[in-house]
Amino acid sequence: MTPETHSPTSTDDPKLGPPPGCPAHGNGPGSLRRLYGPEAEDLGAVYEKLRAEHGAVAPALLHDDVPIWVVLGHGENLHMVSTPSQYCKDSRLWTPMQDGTVKPDHPLMPHFAWQPICCHAEGEEHLRLRGAVTGAMSTIDYRSIRRSINRATQHLVNQFCEDGRADLVSQFAEHLPMAVMCEILGMPEEYGDRIVQAARDMLKGTETAIASNQYVMDVLMRLTARRRAEPQDDFTSHLINHPAGLNDEEIGQHLRVVLIAAYEATANLLANVLRVVLTDPGFRAQLNGGQMTVPEAVEQSLWDEPPFSTVFAYFAKQDTELGGQRIRQGDGLLLGIAPGNVDPRVRPDLKANMQGNRAHLAFSGGPHECPGQDIGRSIADVGVEALLARVPDIQLACGEHELRWRSSIGNRHLVELPVKFEPKTPEEVMERPTVKPVAPLRPNNWQVSTEQSQPTASEPAVPADEPTPTSASPEPARRPGLYRRLLRWWRRN
Ligand code: HEM
Repeated sequence: MTPETHSPTSTDDPKLGPPPGCPAHGNGPGSLRRLYGPEAEDLGAVYEKLRAEHGAVAPALLHDDVPIWVVLGHGENLHMVSTPSQYCKDSRLWTPMQDGTVKPDHPLMPHFAWQPICCHAEGEEHLRLRGAVTGAMSTIDYRSIRRSINRATQHLVNQFCEDGRADLVSQFAEHLPMAVMCEILGMPEEYGDRIVQAARDMLKGTETAIASNQYVMDVLMRLTARRRAEPQDDFTSHLINHPAGLNDEEIGQHLRVVLIAAYEATANLLANVLRVVLTDPGFRAQLNGGQMTVPEAVEQSLWDEPPFSTVFAYFAKQDTELGGQRIRQGDGLLLGIAPGNVDPRVRPDLKANMQGNRAHLAFSGGPHECPGQDIGRSIADVGVEALLARVPDIQLACGEHELRWRSSIGNRHLVELPVKFEPKTPEEVMERPTVKPVAPLRPNNWQVSTEQSQPTASEPAVPADEPTPTSASPEPARRPGLYRRLLRWWRRN
């Protein structure tokens, strides 16, 4: 199939002919590399071939041989995302969308289809929508979020610690971000297998994806109605009450963006960091020996395996030039996060440690730069730390070569991460009282007395909210009493 030509949107003299390498004017599929199908099984290798052939910006083909530029250079990616006068995210400008080259059933349509949300908006409208999201985020108390991440981690570990084995993708990495986001949004009671499965299903684009999307939207619209009627101190209420005045439809759509972006990216990040910890003895030794902290390990992973490998897409608002290529108005450009992160001009030695350097592209940059990066980082930092503290003897339960990935242009994620360890007894996890009613503490055999008051907001339930000790000693058969646990926590701090 021959890539179709763009409609003549540029003011260039057509007699000059197409610029060399223009994705819209290739000599046929043979002359342009595909980013899909059998030849693109290893997209990292394709990007390196494209870099060698074309430099920092290369022409390529998406599904149905739709032309696209891939931005491979670190600086070129940063320039693109930071120059809103030349590039935007409004897919309605894309020539192949305008001339019908991109059919409505194109497999990447969910990424391209324009929606009235901050991810596609620009200028004043982007400021209005994004301002409401960042305004609501600014009310988040990170101390309490870190506590809730730790608490959710303890709950998840409790569910598999007695088995001595687990799959860290489906039993941990995919659950933790959802549990935390449900709490941030103000719907902790909605967290569970059902919503995790729905989010997973939506992103895989299976036959039930539409029904799953509907389920998630119904949950979020119900939450919107509840909080509109009775605001609380949570993200959703602050989003609703932001002076930008988002209507219910906009609120629901932005809750969905936040929930799904957070779930997908953070689940990938958690799985990637844990995979390196489990498979790279040097990495683990550095962590154990204190030469590297978990946040540094997370940052290294954001360089080496960014949770989103590319972002669909930016669009040229005018004829311009990028990385030596002539870009026409209406051309589409893939934000190349993974190839930009390994640009030899910024990383001549890929093995070199990037400690202290946060200049990776994992969160993009410019006006659309990820506003949730601190939450994503916190979930990964606290989650990995608390998991390794609870199960310090954790090991991979299969050969490294048996690990499988599912790849698409947008991301590459682990299918499973099977682990084994000595079985452990579950830990009691205290619920933090919140503005929302919480389930009463389960009766247990360690509480000192029945007069033991539940913690209040001014008396946070510190011991259970802080990571557990890192010793590899076998777990006691019975949990120590509250007083001993308080003492233990006090000594550690
Ligand atoms: C490790 C985790 C995460 C990664 C790697 C990540 C990465 C990204 C990237 C690459 C973009 C696209 C930027 C662009 O279009 O140029 C983005 C956008 C966005 N992310 Fe994240 N993200 C993460 C976690 C989160 C979390 C936890 C939240 C919410 C709590 C969030 C909310 C958003 C939103 C609302 C946008 C759209 C911003 C806009 O278009 O103005 N992300 N993220």
